[in-house]
Amino acid sequence: MASSSFPAIFLTLTIFLLFIAFPWAHSSTLGIRYISKLLDKQDRERAPPSLQVAAARGVLRRLLPSHSSSFDFQIISKEQCGGSSCFIIRNNPSFLRRGDREILITGVTGVEILAGLHWYLKNWCGSHISWEKTGGVQLFSVPKSEFLPRVNDDGVLVQRPIPWSYYQNAVTSSYTFAWWDWERWEKEIDWMALQGINLPLAFTGQEAIWQKKFNLSSSDLDDFFGGPAFLAWSRMGNLHGWGGPVPQSWLDQQLLLQKKILQRMYELGMTPVLPAFSGNVPAALKTRFPSAKITRLANWFTVDSDTRWCCTYLLDATDPLFVEIGRAFIQQQLEEYGRTSHIYNCDTFDENTPPVDDPHFISSLGAAIFQGMQSGDSNAVWLMQALLHSVPLGKLVVLDLFAEVKPLWISSEQFYGVPYIWKVIVPFVFFMCMLHNFAGNIEMYGVLDAIASGPIDARTSNENSTMASLSSTLILRFALNYPFSSLSSSIGLQLLEYDTIIGPSPNSVGVGMAMEGIEQNPVVYDLMSEMAFHRNKVYVKDWIDLYSVRRYGRSVPLIQDAWNILYHTVYNCTDGAYDKNRDVIVAFPDVDPSFISIPQGKFSQHEKQVSRGSVIQEITESFEQPHLWYSTSEVMRALELFLVCGGELSKSNSYRYDLVDLTRQVLAKYANQLFLEIIEAYQSNDVKGVTRRSQKFLELVEDIDTLLACHDGFLLGPWLESAKKLAQNEEEKKQFEWNARTQVTMWFDNSDDEPSLLRDYGNKYWSGLLRDYYRPRAEIYFKFLIKSLEEGDDFQLKGWRREWIKLTNDWQRSRNAFPIKGAGNALNISKWLYNKYLQNVEVQSLNEAAGTNHVM
Ligand SMILES: *[C@@H]1O[C@H](CO)[C@@H](O)[C@H](O)[C@H]1NC(C)=O
Ligand SMILES: *[C@@H]1O[C@H](CO)[C@@H](O)[C@H](O)[C@H]1NC(C)=O
Ligand SMILES: *[C@@H]1O[C@H](CO)[C@@H](O)[C@H](O)[C@H]1NC(C)=O
Ligand SMILES: *[C@@H]1O[C@H](CO)[C@@H](O)[C@H](O)[C@H]1NC(C)=O
Repeated sequence: MASSSFPAIFLTLTIFLLFIAFPWAHSSTLGIRYISKLLDKQDRERAPPSLQVAAARGVLRRLLPSHSSSFDFQIISKEQCGGSSCFIIRNNPSFLRRGDREILITGVTGVEILAGLHWYLKNWCGSHISWEKTGGVQLFSVPKSEFLPRVNDDGVLVQRPIPWSYYQNAVTSSYTFAWWDWERWEKEIDWMALQGINLPLAFTGQEAIWQKKFNLSSSDLDDFFGGPAFLAWSRMGNLHGWGGPVPQSWLDQQLLLQKKILQRMYELGMTPVLPAFSGNVPAALKTRFPSAKITRLANWFTVDSDTRWCCTYLLDATDPLFVEIGRAFIQQQLEEYGRTSHIYNCDTFDENTPPVDDPHFISSLGAAIFQGMQSGDSNAVWLMQALLHSVPLGKLVVLDLFAEVKPLWISSEQFYGVPYIWKVIVPFVFFMCMLHNFAGNIEMYGVLDAIASGPIDARTSNENSTMASLSSTLILRFALNYPFSSLSSSIGLQLLEYDTIIGPSPNSVGVGMAMEGIEQNPVVYDLMSEMAFHRNKVYVKDWIDLYSVRRYGRSVPLIQDAWNILYHTVYNCTDGAYDKNRDVIVAFPDVDPSFISIPQGKFSQHEKQVSRGSVIQEITESFEQPHLWYSTSEVMRALELFLVCGGELSKSNSYRYDLVDLTRQVLAKYANQLFLEIIEAYQSNDVKGVTRRSQKFLELVEDIDTLLACHDGFLLGPWLESAKKLAQNEEEKKQFEWNARTQVTMWFDNSDDEPSLLRDYGNKYWSGLLRDYYRPRAEIYFKFLIKSLEEGDDFQLKGWRREWIKLTNDWQRSRNAFPIKGAGNALNISKWLYNKYLQNVEVQSLNEAAGTNHVM
């Protein structure tokens, strides 16, 4: 039944709305005032300065041990900052001789101090900080202690124009963090602090809270929680039991982990966002509370609505039990963690369809969720992610909180393929947030110009203009102080015109990064996190020139040219399409080849994008063109420049990461073209052509696997090994590995000849996955192509499906191990592949077909 309003996971667009159920007047100034009150409260409750300084020193010690005693840190008040949060970098007045601390960084919290440290390292020492997997840090450009660059005598004051930097998406916890241990978490929290992030989600371990509070036996909960790699979706009620049951050891271990995570976040002065009760309940609740009013949610992407995982139970919002559980959930967290930051997040219908098509239903649910939070914590604030998806198409109103972004929906037709016609009933302030990545897919992609200006525009200009211009990158809005209870009572009467309520445009209160998976495109995150501290737009041309110098630790003009090309091409996606990776290799088309139309000028950058709303139908019935928004020949030119600079740069880990990624990007698009050539040959009954080209395709897949194997950032092995490492016994190892393999291939359920709609959603260009899974899958398809030509028969779509689905299910159960360390010479292999594939005649046509707009 969900098919018509399906959008769901494809669109985990993230809109956060902050509700504060205060029966105050509807004025945005009150909204801002409430935020100030909340901020004051958080300031008062923050860890003592000495603790924050110690936590910040810990980060410095891990990041740059050689300079542990080169920096002095101090916490200062907002007044010393001129009223808002800030950091100040100064030459330490007490630096007199060897061994004294040279640079003094002061800030309002530990996070500000570390953001200041990062700022100093970036701008005075030419350093760069990225995730380990994306090349790690470049700190050898930092001069030896005693020789650190001095700042000007007055010091450098950098204020936060907006109080919050938000980080994460409800699904990042599964796509990226699923198997993390404390060691990895500690690194991430260090990274967050250095980026200035002070409002992260803290979702780990919430299943244990459930278990403790409700005294349900493990077996009661076995069919409720998803497996370790699928908790994000069981939390949202999209599924239950899939990949489970989670062992008790997992629940205990995750709760311990959460306590460490929270402790560190608080020590650094962050505001972790805790989960809240969303209404989804285990089936066992029905037996425990026989009179409870419980309904079932609709099907979310199952193949045949198997109730083992389909159609989670939802407690009716009008049942008094709802608020009771909501309260208990908050209180249990308080009991376990000892404190709260007062900001909670939960999403009942983030990707699911409400059981009834009734605005009252949604609004009373919202009211009950909020009441639950508030009765557990009278200062509760609700940070909400995307009730959006739930909205029945064509309906006027559900939770009318999104109309403020109406210009966006209307201007961006792809959005759902449906125009949005909501009206706003809430005044609010908002977050500018970047979605950027789906499911941790690997693709070079971004919109640097929008990132460099969007948050500034949003902050400074009026309400209507800014959102639209940001297209796919950003958005997060806060809704403030609308009385939820009256919302639920008579939604019709509450429909007030947006303008009349909002009045003057409210300021934004935050920027955010709400990607589904991390450890990709470090350039995008480097720029985005800076935006929390910029008052003015960043001039990207200059920024990108410095970026390559910082990232590789030296100035190489040709590599700057290469980065300029990337800035104008892969990092300037302005077509408004969401970059869900559907490259042929990683998301092999499941279609009858006769229905694939070969576009004119195959590789042109002006291919029409499939509108989002029709994606699902497209998957099963016709070929979904992979996303291509730039001139492939220009990007190939960037690759050539990278190769030319290899001699100078190949010692740099971050260079090698970028080289592998760029070579992969070019070859992936080339493979898309090769696939169309195979289809073209098939359509002209050319058996030899199909055979020859599909051989080449398979070889290419294998070669890309070899390329990816060169860098630790592109390996399947670590994902599987980290899953197994958390297991307590052989049985759990098997289960966790299955979870890990399933999430990146096909989930969730399938029948023998019907694939899951979520297959390849979490696809990855990872060495191991290409050779061991994507390649044999492609091989099956080609086998059926040749068979069809040789026998003069139709393509056996069903036969192909049976075989690749079986391959997939077998692969998910396999236990073969993959390397966890990169091996091979990236530069050598990249050169070799360039010569092998990209210097031949066929690619010439690809060059010509590709776009105009030459930058060189
Ligand atoms: C928890 O449940 C068990 C069995 O259902 C019961 O024996 C026990 O008394 C309960 N404990 C509490 C604290 O409710
Ligand atoms: C709001 O949008 C309208 C219509 O696009 C435009 O005319 C107006 O100038 C915008 N207001 C501001 C403050 O940008
Ligand atoms: C990005 O693309 C847009 C639209 O084609 C163009 O107007 C803009 O100049 C481009 N920006 C860069 C940095 O190339
Ligand atoms: C470079 O790669 C080629 C082909 O894989 C290989 O034969 C050669 O030994 C490699 N050279 C180095 C220095 O790694």
